[in-house]
Amino acid sequence: MTLIATEKTDARRTAVQSAGENPASATSPADSPSAAALNAGTGTVVPPAPSAPPSQPAPALKQAPAVTAQIPKPAPSEPEPSGAARTQAAPPPAFYTKDLSVFYGEKQAIKQVSMAFPDRQVVALIGPSGCGKSTFLRSLNRMNDLIPGASIEGEIWIGGHNICDPKTDVVRLRQKIGMVWQRPNPFHKSIYENVAFGPRYHGVKSKAALDELVEECLRKTALWDEVKDRLHQSGLALSGGQQQRLCIARSIAVKPDILLMDEPASALDPVSTAKVEELTAELKRDYTIVIVTHNMHQAARVSDKTAFFFLGDLVEYDETNKIFTNPSRKSTDDYISGRFG
Ligand SMILES: Nc1ncnc2c1ncn2[C@@H]1O[C@H](COP(=O)(O)OP(=O)(O)OP(=O)(O)O)[C@@H](O)[C@H]1O
Ligand SMILES: [Mg+2]
Repeated sequence: MTLIATEKTDARRTAVQSAGENPASATSPADSPSAAALNAGTGTVVPPAPSAPPSQPAPALKQAPAVTAQIPKPAPSEPEPSGAARTQAAPPPAFYTKDLSVFYGEKQAIKQVSMAFPDRQVVALIGPSGCGKSTFLRSLNRMNDLIPGASIEGEIWIGGHNICDPKTDVVRLRQKIGMVWQRPNPFHKSIYENVAFGPRYHGVKSKAALDELVEECLRKTALWDEVKDRLHQSGLALSGGQQQRLCIARSIAVKPDILLMDEPASALDPVSTAKVEELTAELKRDYTIVIVTHNMHQAARVSDKTAFFFLGDLVEYDETNKIFTNPSRKSTDDYISGRFG
């Protein structure tokens, strides 16, 4: 994967204030084709590759452990870390950050976070409101560039490239690192066109190839059986849960390597939430996933590793089971036990 473009832009601590790009577009992307293109990427389309073989059997959802039980208290003298926590992971990470900081003007929202994301695993980001989860997530595909006054320092390494490098082709980057937002945001287009838009933008012209791709993505998101007879109806006519799965189908249609999901189920009913969780567990066969959630049980069910953020610091990052049964830091314990946040 090459992500280095030839044009020179200052990505380091640069505020990008392009016309039509505003904070709202970063938190609630517009549904226009141009915004879609931005998110879908404009690099050369990667021909649909055969699905990678599953790295392990279909994962069963874990039972959410009781988050308050049997949590030993850390020694009183144990210091709280101020920044980076554990970053070691095996197998080798799909990508990692090194001393990543994000600023809004002079305000530092993320403080020198170093974190490795294991290939084809799910990492959950948890922490109280305002601690920087969305900011960190958006920085991973440089969506914070779209926020006036936002800037980043540090490194994000993917496929041998530091994507904070000014030469990074951010549009191509956003093709390889897809984003699913809190509120479903289908385009004002048909179900079929929502999924076909990205691949067509990248140059897939053949109707047969697009048909095949649309079906593949809708099957992967468990939507095919529900919509196969109304593919040309508006995506907006679907239920909220179906719309969110359509948005996930749209994200994977451009063959990303990584999926970033910011509270993808928080606006959904319990049944739709369960479907998105099952889908997340299925998708990790093919994608590395980072998911922000306020739902501790959801984090426990869907993720392999969990990172606890507080006031812009990565306080603790470990196996999910460890975080929810035996966290190392008192503030993690307090948060997952509902004592604050
Ligand atoms: N566009 C922005 N401009 C200025 N400050 C911002 C902007 N977006 C976020 N912030 C600030 O950065 C900090 C982190 O915000 P962020 O949205 O990343 O938190 P969060 O953990 O995702 O919160 P929540 O759980 O409520 O979604 C907060 O103090 C917030 O006010
Ligand atoms: Mg957020």
